[in-house]
This record gives sequence, structure tokens and C-alpha cells, in this order.
Amino acid sequence: MTASTTPVALGPVMCVVGARPNFMKMAPILRALAAHAPQLRTMLVHTGQHYDRDMSDRLFIDLGLPRPDINLDVGSASHAVQTADVMRRFEPALDEHRPCCVIVVGDVNSTLACTLVAVKKDVPVVHVEAGLRSYDRKMPEEINRVLTDQVADRLYITERSAGQNLQREGVAPERICFVGNVMIDSLLANREHAASPADTLRAHGIDPAFLSDHGRFGVVTLHRPSNVDEAQVLGRLLAVLAEVAERLPLVFVQHPRTRGNIERFGLAGLIDPQRVVLLPPQGYLEMLGLMAQATLVLTDSGGLQEETTALGVPCLTLRANTERPITVDEGTNTMVGDDRVAILQCVDEILQGRGKRGRTPEFWDGRAAQRIATDLAQWLAAPRHHD
Ligand code: UD1
Repeated sequence: MTASTTPVALGPVMCVVGARPNFMKMAPILRALAAHAPQLRTMLVHTGQHYDRDMSDRLFIDLGLPRPDINLDVGSASHAVQTADVMRRFEPALDEHRPCCVIVVGDVNSTLACTLVAVKKDVPVVHVEAGLRSYDRKMPEEINRVLTDQVADRLYITERSAGQNLQREGVAPERICFVGNVMIDSLLANREHAASPADTLRAHGIDPAFLSDHGRFGVVTLHRPSNVDEAQVLGRLLAVLAEVAERLPLVFVQHPRTRGNIERFGLAGLIDPQRVVLLPPQGYLEMLGLMAQATLVLTDSGGLQEETTALGVPCLTLRANTERPITVDEGTNTMVGDDRVAILQCVDEILQGRGKRGRTPEFWDGRAAQRIATDLAQWLAAPRHHD
């Protein structure tokens, strides 16, 4: 059956976002689904897990996301409270609007919370970016990934290894569909609108000569609890970054969790303002501009590992493992953990022009969301889509 034969009586496709990394994944999906109107109607639900201007509102504007139809306003809390609050507030929305399916993306607490509510109400769940595994169960996102994938009905994957992970966990191959990476759809759609790093610095009262004097710069982001929630671990990482900064000036874009912990632990003295520029969380176009022009990126973010691969910029990932192995096998990513010697050696190689170049992974071509929309329209139209 084709999209054009989908019954018009279907409830809306309820699209859920919660935290910053969800927004750039959902924007292209909403646009691609709009091409299937009126057979498919969409509704956007924001759980409010990320809520402030820097972490949410600005990204909505940059990405051209519509105003959410529903905002659950859950805010920050412990994992248990945050997850429970999303569940309690999502249930009445589901009851009221009776969607034909719920689309969740990524691996944040909102992803799992909405999945649990929907699946128990017999509403099909569609998971975008399924099957990624770090095999590190200490990572809260890993728990969210494993549990979401077990109960989701349709699983869209960004790389083939994710399909193997899912099948090892007993997921039937018919539920899995390889579509590529929607995050890269956003990157390619916005690349030419990226803000220049000089403008970004200027907007924060920093003389852009910081960049031009040195000719090149690195970009740093850190926010994983395993890296930033303990004083000793964070202190060690900041000390290594200080050594990197002696070789290459750094633009450190600080997540609120990280900025708070640096202050709380009294570690600000480890950051030399002559060599490291500190910025608050940036908009999508500012971050894209910084990454695209960077000589290298040092990060523990999942999204940045993928974005640097798409941009061809060397990425040093400050983690022991990655759920995105294709960025290492085919892309520009190198896992360096907190190993000072490995980090400095990689930095030196990159500065000597011997950094990893990589290639663009299969289907990271800007059309992943279109593939999802086409497949979803057919899947929803099929007589039995929910086992
Ligand atoms: C969450 C996700 C993580 C994702 C990250 C991207 C989970 C388990 N974690 O982690 O997968 O990579 O988002 O940012 O879902 N805060 C603000 N403003 C906001 C939101 C948060 O200041 O808009 C502060 C909170 O008060 C808290 C800290 O940032 O102190 C952490 O926020 P939280 O939502 O708990 O988790 P993240 O670390 O952002």
C-alpha cells in the first residue's frame, strides 16, 4: 500500500522532543512528514526537560521548529522524578489526542518516559536513532536506549551496526529500518547559514582577534555526568585541556551542568583566560559555525561525534566508549578517554596535518527524514503494524 491510500481518519503522529539533542533530529522529520499531509498530521510535544533560552528556545528558532502544540514543562529533577513527571503529564495528552503513533528520538529521559506511556496504551512507538549501544550501563542514556528499543514497534537506525545490536537483543529484523542520520539532515540543511566564529565571539563581548591571532582553534564541550560530576575527574580533564590550550587556543562551550560543577568544585583556576574562551550554550547555527571552522573538536557529546564526521573535522572523544562506532571506523572520531598522553599525541598529529580525514557514512546524505516519512506512511497504512 502507498502513502496516498493511508486512511485520512488516522490520529496525529505525535512527535516528542525533550532535550537539546532531540531538536535537531525532530526538525527534519516534521518537515518530511508535512509532505505526507493530509494523510499524516503531526503534533509536537515538548516535555520541557530542557527549558531555558539557551538550551531550548534558541534552538527552536534556529532549526525552524514550530511552537510545540503541548509543553509538559517538567524541567530538571533527579532521573526518577524527571522520568515520572514526563510519564504523568504525557498520559493525559495521549488520551486526549489519540495519536496513530508516537515518534521518539535519541536516548534522553523523555524518550523512555513517553515510550513507556504510549506502549502500555497500545499506541505504536517509533524510535528514531535506535540500536546505538555503548555497552556501558553506567550511562543513563544506555538504559534509555535499551529499554526504548525493546518495546518500540518501528526502529529507524543510523548505521548498520545498530541493526546487529538490535537483533542480538532479540528484536525482529522486520521492525528495523536503515534510513541514515536525521541529525545530518539538519546539518546539511543549515550549513550555509552557520554563524561565523568571529561573530559568535563578538556577540559575547570577546575580541575575535582571539581566533585570527592564532589562525586556528579547537572547540570543547563536556557534559557527561561521568566526566563532570566528580571533582577529581573534572579537574583532571581540565588540566589536560590546559595542556592542549598551550598548543592551540580553545573555545569551550559550557553546558550548564559543567559550568555549575566547575564553580562548585572551585576548578575555575585551571582555565587560562588567555588561551581558553568560555561561552555559554550556543545556538545551533553558532555551534555549527564553530565546529565547521575548528581545527579539532574535543567532546564527550554523542551528537558532536557525528557532526564532526559529517564536517570532516577531527574529533577527540573524551570517553572510554562510543555508541556511534561508525564515526571511528569511517569518520574523523578517535576515542581518547581521559588519557593525557593519547590526547596530546592526537592533538600534535592533527596540528601537523596528520589528523583523521574519514569519509561520509552511508545514508548520511540529508535525506534520512524523507526515508522515514515514506516508510512510516506505508507502515501506518498496513493492516497490521502493531504486534
Ligand atoms: C541531557 C540528556 C543527555 C543529553 C544532554 C544534552 C538524559 C538522561 N540526559 O543531559 O542525554 O546529551 O541532555 O544537553 O536525558 N539545565 C539548565 N537549563 C536547561 C536544562 C538543564 O540550566 O534548559 C541544567 C539543569 O538544571 C541541570 C543540568 O543542566 O543542572 C543538567 O540537565 P539535565 O536535563 O538533568 O541533563 P543533561 O546533563 O542536560
